[in-house]
Amino acid sequence: MNKINGEIYMQNKEQKELLVRLGEAQNKFGYLSEKVMIELAESLDMSISDVYGVATFYSFFSIRPQGRNIIRICKSVPCFLKNSQVIIETVEKEIGIKPGETTPNGKFSFHLTNCIGVCDKAPAMMINSEVYIDLTPNKISQILKAHK
Ligand code: FES
Repeated sequence: MNKINGEIYMQNKEQKELLVRLGEAQNKFGYLSEKVMIELAESLDMSISDVYGVATFYSFFSIRPQGRNIIRICKSVPCFLKNSQVIIETVEKEIGIKPGETTPNGKFSFHLTNCIGVCDKAPAMMINSEVYIDLTPNKISQILKAHK
């Protein structure tokens, strides 16, 4: 694994395979446990620290159990310039947790993420695999009610 300007990039087949296998494990178990990371390291002949480094670098991987609905609000500049901070604060108020946390009832996990590819419709967020655009505080309330 290599880093350029703080970015990790994959350079060989084993490292690309690691990304695929981490994604499969994340989909299967909902998060990447220590046991899963150790098994992946052994099967790919990589160090555990390399596996852990990749698992914790990408925001779409999690090393902790997640809620049934995973909210990801875009924190990149185009969304920030369209008041994503207000959207973040609205979500915090509605579900009572901060980014990086999971509600005690396990319904929601909340994360900030980099661009999700709909910058022209900022501010934007995802809940699980669904994308929501042109967000306003009122829209947030309606969207979250549908997931409660
Ligand atoms: S910057 Fe937010 S979706 Fe691209």
